[in-house]
Amino acid sequence: MTSPILLPPTLNVPPQTISGAGRSGAMSDLLSPFGSRIMLVHGRSLTTNGHLDRILDGLSDRSSAGVYCHAGTEPTLDEVTKCVAALRAFKPDCVVAVGGGSVMDLAKASAGLIDAPLSVEAYHGGAPLPVSNCPFVAVPTTAGTGSEATYVSVLSDTALGIKKSIRDPSHLPRLVVLDPILLRSCPQHVLAASGMDAFTQAVEAYVSRGATDFSDDLALRGAATVFRNLMRIAEDRDAPDEAYLELLQGSYMAGLALSHARLGLVHGLAHPLGYRFHAPHGLVCGVCLPAVIRFNREAASAKFDVLSGVLGGDILDVTEDALIRLGLASPFAGKAIDDIDAVVAETLASGSTKANPRLPTEQDVIEMLAALCA
Ligand SMILES: [Fe+2]
Repeated sequence: MTSPILLPPTLNVPPQTISGAGRSGAMSDLLSPFGSRIMLVHGRSLTTNGHLDRILDGLSDRSSAGVYCHAGTEPTLDEVTKCVAALRAFKPDCVVAVGGGSVMDLAKASAGLIDAPLSVEAYHGGAPLPVSNCPFVAVPTTAGTGSEATYVSVLSDTALGIKKSIRDPSHLPRLVVLDPILLRSCPQHVLAASGMDAFTQAVEAYVSRGATDFSDDLALRGAATVFRNLMRIAEDRDAPDEAYLELLQGSYMAGLALSHARLGLVHGLAHPLGYRFHAPHGLVCGVCLPAVIRFNREAASAKFDVLSGVLGGDILDVTEDALIRLGLASPFAGKAIDDIDAVVAETLASGSTKANPRLPTEQDVIEMLAALCA
């Protein structure tokens, strides 16, 4: 398969990305152009592992910084509403997210909606998003979602039972800081699941119908970099900082690839399945990936051959072996889906599914769900 074009019609890349061990503890020079009132949105683990104090100590004026702790799990519309209220009360010059994909999505959506006149529910339901003027900075503590590379926030509406994204170019991070010290503190099961999210995103972006030469280069190198370093770190948590930094950078490259090429059927399935089984997104993606590779095999055979070449083994074998080595077991094997019609409809309506190299029918999705839940 040859990519049809060199570049996507529009490039949206964070204007500044800084990499380096310890860099998150020395951000004052990077943040000063935005102003002194910094609101730090973070996950709970940051308060216990010492990183929150280290980051606050590295600001030029700690006393003018605010903090907002995300309760945990993937963000809901209620949590965004709460965070937006906190931001409006604080009036930040800049919002800095330090955390995994959930924290980054929560903070990104909240900063993006700080001056928005309608409810979060209205924008999640499709109302046009106003342009945000609130600078947003992303400092990932996991290597997985690629949220730091995109202007997308994935949010769950618990009232309607729907998980989907809001997106606007003005929500793109103005600054990204990739610090391997933060990733080193990531628990093993989170590292494994989020790493498989990054790997899946690289693979799906590479074979996507929206792929370009630009996204192909990022996706292919991202897949190889994530795979090599994820396996190395999972087996040796004392691996050097370079391995952690490469994993962060590979995940970031996969994020840049997916934001310009979109994804595929794994991510079409992952939102409805993840919501129903309350399973981590990366785990759902990793577990669904082998079935989707089999489904797509003929439609993207040349690209899967290239992927197999850079991974040092057949893409399907490599993926299944990685899941075993990482200890990732299916969260839905042996379980029933109560509302399979709704899951099928959500999967088929997903923009990710529409970018899949082979477009699935309703029957294809039903059969895939049956296989995944067997
Ligand atoms: Fe993902």
